[in-house]
Amino acid sequence: MVMLMKVAFFSAKPYDRSSFDAVNRTFQHELIYLEAHLDETTAVLARGCGAVCAFVNDSLDRDTLCALRELGVRMILLRCAGYNHVDLQAAGELGLLVARVPEYSPFAVAEHAAALVLALNRKIHRAYHRVRESNFSLDGLMGFDLNGCTVGVFGTGKIGTAFCRIMQGFGCRILAYDLYPNKALIDSGVHYTDKDTLLIQSDILSLHCPLTPETHYLIDEEAIAKAKDGIMLINTSRGALIDARALIQGLKSGKIGYVGLDVYEEEGDLFFEDLSNQVLKDDVFARLTTFPNVIITGHQAFFTGDAMQAIAATTLNNLSHLEAGKPCSNLVSLPSGG
Ligand code: NAI
Repeated sequence: MVMLMKVAFFSAKPYDRSSFDAVNRTFQHELIYLEAHLDETTAVLARGCGAVCAFVNDSLDRDTLCALRELGVRMILLRCAGYNHVDLQAAGELGLLVARVPEYSPFAVAEHAAALVLALNRKIHRAYHRVRESNFSLDGLMGFDLNGCTVGVFGTGKIGTAFCRIMQGFGCRILAYDLYPNKALIDSGVHYTDKDTLLIQSDILSLHCPLTPETHYLIDEEAIAKAKDGIMLINTSRGALIDARALIQGLKSGKIGYVGLDVYEEEGDLFFEDLSNQVLKDDVFARLTTFPNVIITGHQAFFTGDAMQAIAATTLNNLSHLEAGKPCSNLVSLPSGG
């Protein structure tokens, strides 16, 4: 008799249910949708399940993983690309298999980064409100031509590459930094350089690398001091790539001209929830929202119908492979295999 493995699906939103249910008609897995975020205290909700499905702001630290293992969970299905929130050392020691969705739609995220660039440059967020108030003044709405601008791209993996191509379409000169330069991009005219040159020469700098110990606070006070005056910073990767306090100082001094964020270091307490009836407790975030030249979106860059369908398909396919003991190319582990 085939024993079907139950999956505890944490941080479930209505849009998760609809995309997963649609794709699951083919797979027929037993998905138990839970609104709760996963952490050490909620892990108990996975009792009776062999797998958990988790999202970006679920906690997968050692304590949570130990609690899950004790309940009999054997697999962690991440329905996201990044895995910086998983203690892979602990997962390896506990014998937990961790799978992710390495690629679903790089275009979704790259296009959102481009949307932030365009909105910030042409001040669409301010114009939208003015026109609704019958204020048709153009004062303060002046932008600049993207054509001929220098765009720096930090991390040219799948998303960074898609972003390079979009910005090339606008006639921008593209500088890039990555540990592993992409030959196809070089052939298309992208110039790889060092981190400092990227900061010094870029009119727009967009971050597309993962969060690792090496990239933590990549943009700090020192980096901001080196940056071109009036630089536009875009971060759709992970919040802790930027020291938000240093960002505020850079904005206050005018050194930074524009900021577009889809991620924030402390977003776990904020994003994906309707907190409009509550007092905002995060003073750093609150200050960031007061600048006219800052646009923040709540980790929505991935959020297209195409991406959601692809996330559901890959996640459920990962589960089928792991359940059947077949090789799964989307497993993540420490480089040592630990
Ligand atoms: P990827 O793995 O294809 O590319 C990452 C690139 O960063 C690689 O080329 C890698 O060599 C480079 N890199 C790694 N460490 C580096 C370092 N220390 N210095 C310079 N380059 C370094 O990943 P992908 O799919 O392009 O995603 C990038 C990031 O975007 C993810 O790690 C994730 O944090 C974020 N993301 C955000 C989403 C959102 O909705 N806002 C959705 C999906 C991903």
